[in-house]
Amino acid sequence: MSFEIIKLSEKDAFSASEIEKLCFSHPWSENTLASEMESRFSDFFGAFDGEKLAGYIGGRTIAGETEIFNVAVSPEYRRKGIGRKLIEKFIEASKEKETQVIFLEVRASNLPAINLYEGAGFVFCGIRKDYYDDPKENAILMRLAFDGTQEFEEWDDD
Ligand SMILES: CC(C)(COP(=O)(O)OP(=O)(O)OC[C@H]1O[C@@H](n2cnc3c(N)ncnc32)[C@H](O)[C@@H]1OP(=O)(O)O)[C@@H](O)C(=O)NCCC(=O)NCCS
Repeated sequence: MSFEIIKLSEKDAFSASEIEKLCFSHPWSENTLASEMESRFSDFFGAFDGEKLAGYIGGRTIAGETEIFNVAVSPEYRRKGIGRKLIEKFIEASKEKETQVIFLEVRASNLPAINLYEGAGFVFCGIRKDYYDDPKENAILMRLAFDGTQEFEEWDDD
């Protein structure tokens, strides 16, 4: 199966919101997605199977720091390398914006996502206790730095 990775705009907000509903207990709405997609600080990319959006990634870069909001792939399209392609594209675009560091949060039990991020070079950098609801769960913070500090990061699990 071949996929095309394309920059998304607010016209794709509905399709992205449908993927959100399949993936998260608190999905972003079409309106929220559309307004983030319109922002000049944001970058959203989608993986398309023909006309169909199979997965997407979105985040925001301000003053040299990038935050990834979400990466989500429809269940039927998982384990085909789409998540990896999306994150690689997002990292490339962030570098073009001269970001110094990319941050993200992920549920502590979300091993597929944690593996994906580690594979892309992210390292653990902290915990937010009880950050998520439904179910209540800690968030793990991860970062990917381009300023030469990445290799010095260490995971402290206190
Ligand atoms: C996490 C997610 C985006 C991965 O997307 P995907 O397209 O299936 O991932 P890929 O096929 O590109 O896999 C890339 C790597 O991710 C990891 N991975 C993906 N799915 C995994 C799974 N079920 N179990 C363990 N590792 C997994 C592996 O390291 C994999 O590399 P490998 O294939 O060489 O083993 C997808 O599972 C998803 O949408 N989950 C629900 C939404 C979500 O939790 N998003 C993250 C929010 S922070």
